[in-house]
Amino acid sequence: MAVKLETRYLDGFVREHELTSLQAQVNVAHEMLHNGTGLGNDFIGWLDLPVNYDKDEFARIKAAATRIKEDTDVFIVIGIGGSYLGARAAIEFLKSNNYNAKKKDTPDIYFAGNSISGAQLAELLEICEGRRVSINVISKSGTTTEPAIAFRVLREYLENTYGHEEAVRRTYVTTDKARGTLKALADREGFETFVVPDDVGGRFSVLTAVGLLPIAVAGCDIDALMKGAADAREALVDPDLANNDCYRYAAARTALHRRGRAVELMVSYEPQYAMMSEWWKQLYGESEGKDGKGLFPASVIFSTDLHSLGQFVQDGSNILFETVVKFDKAPRELLIKEDAENGDGLNFLAGKSMSFVNEKAFEGTVLAHTDGGTPSLVLNVPAMDEASLGWLIYFFEKACAISGYMLGVNPFDQPGVESYKKNMFALLGKPGYEEARVALLARLGQ
Ligand code: PA5
Repeated sequence: MAVKLETRYLDGFVREHELTSLQAQVNVAHEMLHNGTGLGNDFIGWLDLPVNYDKDEFARIKAAATRIKEDTDVFIVIGIGGSYLGARAAIEFLKSNNYNAKKKDTPDIYFAGNSISGAQLAELLEICEGRRVSINVISKSGTTTEPAIAFRVLREYLENTYGHEEAVRRTYVTTDKARGTLKALADREGFETFVVPDDVGGRFSVLTAVGLLPIAVAGCDIDALMKGAADAREALVDPDLANNDCYRYAAARTALHRRGRAVELMVSYEPQYAMMSEWWKQLYGESEGKDGKGLFPASVIFSTDLHSLGQFVQDGSNILFETVVKFDKAPRELLIKEDAENGDGLNFLAGKSMSFVNEKAFEGTVLAHTDGGTPSLVLNVPAMDEASLGWLIYFFEKACAISGYMLGVNPFDQPGVESYKKNMFALLGKPGYEEARVALLARLGQ
């Protein structure tokens, strides 16, 4: 079980010696990460998380998930950024992007507090009507505005629907172990709480209670998920680029960036991978996009987007490279049947599986894009199951840290995220932002 990297489609774009010459920088990045001497070294708890996690809390997560599966029809996960993307990505990867519409013995799962859209929240309240609802509010800081607003609205809904005691029983809180408004509120009300460890940042937190509770509620095997990550942790420690595909991926994307590529386009041929790309975009965008540097992470689903963005990738400005995530085994198979009349002319596909056709679409596309000036990295993943997902999560997290150190940034902070918040608070009239408000209003001509 391993994620394997293929670099053959770099031929003509990056020479092998450009990768091997990065070995010395990879070694330094590896030492910084493993010895805890790099920037942001107080946020590297995710490195050992697959083995070094709170086993009692893990058991509590499973118990809570069992209870929620029994007493809940609609489970609402409130959170934004790293407090939302991982759980949603994992559930769609493992269960389907049509999870809620499927026949199942687990609750529907909705995500709230990841925008400031009143329309979405109002619609969710309608969806809840007449159904048994539980909520899991997730915020490491416990102070983020988007989830705080959604939590206020949904708490009121639970209080009005169930009364205080039952509303408390149906509320699960995942936050810092001691700090923040949410923690104080949880202690006061007596909500069951789970912890985001101090040394794990939001976008690296999917394998903590942040991701694990919603993932378990969806009926996924979180033991197998942690095992996959633990296997990756054990396998991806050799700094030698010849033996470590995670580091080789970090080196290859670094080499492509230095060759002038500005955008890394994550590609999958399975629609249920789309949210994993969103998770990956946050992981890499927030970790590398700073100090005026970084690759812009973007994503597509093929062949869907071959009919929209495909033209640009093939024939537009050569700013991109692709990272294609492929699965050795499709999540499900469907055979194309023979049709006696062959009115649609498709009998040349009779007896073939959809995954065979998808494979040919990949092969045709990767060669066409190479001809068009867009190189590709290919990650081969065994299956869309828990073990592969755990491995993939760890693989991307570690490659992100190594890439970030090679880029010379702190991969574990996100100072840029604060700028919009300060302006928004000032414009909303939050106490303490009076001076900034005057300046912003002048700039807006108000
Ligand atoms: O990766 C990060 O740290 C951020 O994306 C956070 O996860 C996001 O801003 C939400 O923060 P919080 O969990 O504190 O509400």
